[in-house]
Amino acid sequence: MSQAEIPSKMRGILVEDYGVPKDVLKIKDDLDVPSLRRSGDEHEEFVLIKVHYSSINPVDYKIVRGEARKLFPHDLPFIPGIDVAGTVVKITDGCRKLKVGDKVWADAGPSRMGAFSEYVKLPESIVGVMPKSFNFEQAAATPLAGLTALQGLKAHAKLESGHKVLLLGGCGGVGSFSIQLAKGLGASYVSTTCGTGNFDTVKKLGADEFIDYTKDDWSEILKGKDFDIVFDCVGEKDAWTRAQKVLKSDGVFVTTNIERTQDSGKMKNISMITVPNAGDLDMLSNLAEKKVFVPLISMVHKFDDVFTMFDHCESGHTSGKMVFEIRK
Ligand SMILES: NC(=O)c1ccc[n+]([C@@H]2O[C@H](COP(=O)([O-])OP(=O)(O)OC[C@H]3O[C@@H](n4cnc5c(N)ncnc54)[C@H](OP(=O)(O)O)[C@@H]3O)[C@@H](O)[C@H]2O)c1
Repeated sequence: MSQAEIPSKMRGILVEDYGVPKDVLKIKDDLDVPSLRRSGDEHEEFVLIKVHYSSINPVDYKIVRGEARKLFPHDLPFIPGIDVAGTVVKITDGCRKLKVGDKVWADAGPSRMGAFSEYVKLPESIVGVMPKSFNFEQAAATPLAGLTALQGLKAHAKLESGHKVLLLGGCGGVGSFSIQLAKGLGASYVSTTCGTGNFDTVKKLGADEFIDYTKDDWSEILKGKDFDIVFDCVGEKDAWTRAQKVLKSDGVFVTTNIERTQDSGKMKNISMITVPNAGDLDMLSNLAEKKVFVPLISMVHKFDDVFTMFDHCESGHTSGKMVFEIRK
């Protein structure tokens, strides 16, 4: 696409006020396509991406509702959306890695967002070339949930070959990547929790043991089983207190719930926040090419389905990821 073909206006979702998504999300056809250079950001290189698909994450509705305002403040109005899969259509002069025409993926991050629109401007440092074996739907399903799984298991829990891992919420966005990555990165045993009816799904993803969290208390079933790692992919209430019953004495608990509590003896308790970056996306791309993981996609929504998609996401019972078509 030449520069002349980039339109000045685009379609996208706009949040004009904080509140219930169906009330405050507006579909617009006349949003300004981001310009690549604005004063104040000359120190970074940027790419303009034509977005083909995105996917929804719980943090999208938390931000739209204003629940995550302290941590991720946004001036109104703003375009939500974090996961990006698309094609680079323009770059700043100093870009070294990416070029026009590259098929890319990115986690735009909860502070920046902007993925639910036809064009998004992102720093080159957080954009990666998507795996060749993935289509745009698969690429859109991966960035935030996949990076969370990778960083949770590798950077925070320091997963090593032979480790015994318990994943809370193996059927969700983060959990479905975590089962596959834990096995691919060498875990000898992966136990997971999921709801009634999702056993087949987590088994196919690679879990060795599954516990129905709606019927059984995982901390009683697994008490004294000496897990090296408990990765709480759902932010379950009391997970840390219960995890101490199943972890070995120097085990690690990592949670996606950002409210931090105390370590206990030699056991580590880590609240993680996912950091968008191209290096980790490249690592995910390598793992994808080696068939270590394939995103679990439960639904592909059309652009106008945005309200249904937010409703489903807020139900808290999505299996894997819901993908969102922005522009084919
Ligand atoms: N800190 C960070 O940087 C970070 C990054 C990414 C995500 N997160 C947070 O992590 C959480 C999960 O994200 P996600 O994208 O994976 O969400 P998600 O896909 O919407 O999670 C839905 C899944 O969670 C399962 N689930 C719900 N309650 C459960 C429980 N008590 N035990 C086991 N499974 C349970 C559901 O299973 P059933 O359908 O079987 O009930 C469903 O499969 C969200 O709160 C999100 O905001 C934080």
